[in-house]
Amino acid sequence: MSGGGDDDLAAKAIAAQKGAYAPYSKFHVGAAIRMSGGTFVGSNVENASYSMTMCAERTAIFAAVATGARVLEAVAVCSDASPPSSPCGACRQVMSEFTPDPTAMTITAVNPAGEARSWLLSELLPDGFSGRELP
Ligand code: THU
Repeated sequence: MSGGGDDDLAAKAIAAQKGAYAPYSKFHVGAAIRMSGGTFVGSNVENASYSMTMCAERTAIFAAVATGARVLEAVAVCSDASPPSSPCGACRQVMSEFTPDPTAMTITAVNPAGEARSWLLSELLPDGFSGRELP
């Protein structure tokens, strides 16, 4: 991981994992994001009607957007997976909505054991739907 700021975000994602509500999958996920200069956290929230489940990353992004934040600057996500698991496609698409330059937005996946992997959003969602096609 590069930079003290990203280490801090990873630590917050690890802490946010404690908030996961995952009685069905037992896969606990925490996310921490930097958006418009602020830091926001989220966890996955599952539902007995499985498709209602919300991922940790989108929980954090929607919380940030609801405060007026609009520019996604960095994402950290924590699960128990080894190697650390990357964000799902739906979360990548939501990240893209708020990322002006996907070649400059880093996503770091960690686990509590200390493993880490990172990517640029442009690597995880090449040629994504941008909305520019809309009338
Ligand atoms: N999950 C996340 O929170 N983020 C991801 O990027 C992948 C999956 C959650 C959704 C569900 O609660 C559990 O992990 C298993 O899919």
